[in-house]
Amino acid sequence: MFEKIILIHNRSLLFLYLLIIGISVAFSSFSLFAMGGMSIFDGVPTEEACRDCHEDLINFPMLERSNPDKHHLLVGTPIPLPEDSTAPNAPGGFPGEDYECMSCHEMDFIPETQTYGLAPFRDCLLCHPEWVVTGSPMMGTNIHHETQTFLLGDCQACHGSGMDDGGMGGGGMGGGGMGGM
Ligand code: HEC
Ligand code: HEC
Ligand code: HEC
Ligand code: HEC
Repeated sequence: MFEKIILIHNRSLLFLYLLIIGISVAFSSFSLFAMGGMSIFDGVPTEEACRDCHEDLINFPMLERSNPDKHHLLVGTPIPLPEDSTAPNAPGGFPGEDYECMSCHEMDFIPETQTYGLAPFRDCLLCHPEWVVTGSPMMGTNIHHETQTFLLGDCQACHGSGMDDGGMGGGGMGGGGMGGM
């Protein structure tokens, strides 16, 4: 009787032990993938790092247009709700109205000319905050993972050639890739 209890006990311990190994193996490959393994920014994202890609239409032809043009073509199109916007911190404008100059720009007094003019240009991150441009695909807030390039599985386009271009099935991505996560 006593022996039987110990046996059962041992077996559940073994099970528990295997479970723990399983979890830690899964977790370590997960963290390699999710934490730092695929980072692009060197620490916190900076305007300069955004511009490295967003002003490089040769390496990033999918951007199609210069960065000012991309914004200015939005004039006259509807402003989305903050939760659907890629720039929830843009200074002006109301969801449902159309974008106009003052949805994004602010006027400033310019001492040299003694007039008001558009304030000199500001950091991308003021309008596109960090949480909108960082994070793994699983976190679901990084707009880069909602683009056509992501949907085509071309991770390499942004993450460089340190990894296979395995697509959503995940060739070189920590073994299991997206499917395993
Ligand atoms: C490694 C290159 C790279 C870096 C760094 C990068 N981006 Fe991008 N970003 C892209 C590319 C490429 C696209 C367009 C992909 C597509 O349309 O298929 C894009 C798309 C976007 C979009 C549009 C998303 C959409 O839904 O259409 C925004 C906004 C954006 N980036 C902002 C930023 C900001 C802000 C930074 C800096 C914090 C940044 N990006 C850094 C490559 C980069
Ligand atoms: C959706 C946001 C948005 C709207 C709407 C917008 N702008 Fe801009 N504008 C920007 C951004 C962002 C930049 C800077 C882009 C960069 O530095 O890459 C910019 C840059 C500029 C510049 C600097 C010149 C340049 O090419 O870099 C001028 C001038 C300007 N905008 C005028 C206007 C005027 C006038 C309107 C209204 C007709 C307008 N903008 C509407 C976002 C916007
Ligand atoms: C003053 C606010 C502001 C600043 C600064 C700003 N953006 Fe934007 N950006 C916007 C707004 C607003 C949109 C449209 C968001 C939406 O409708 O979802 C936008 C959209 C975009 C898009 C998608 C354009 C498209 O075709 O739909 C890209 C790419 C982008 N921004 C990149 C950048 C980069 C890179 C910088 C810095 C060099 C930057 N932005 C600076 C306000 C800004
Ligand atoms: C349009 C550009 C773009 C594409 C395409 C893209 N990513 Fe990203 N991804 C980013 C940016 C920008 C970051 C933020 C990097 C940072 O914080 O250093 C990021 C972050 C990540 C992170 C989190 C890294 C970290 O250190 O937090 C993972 C994981 C990731 N991407 C996986 C993928 C996978 C898998 C694919 C392909 C299915 C993919 N990405 C395609 C732009 C992209």
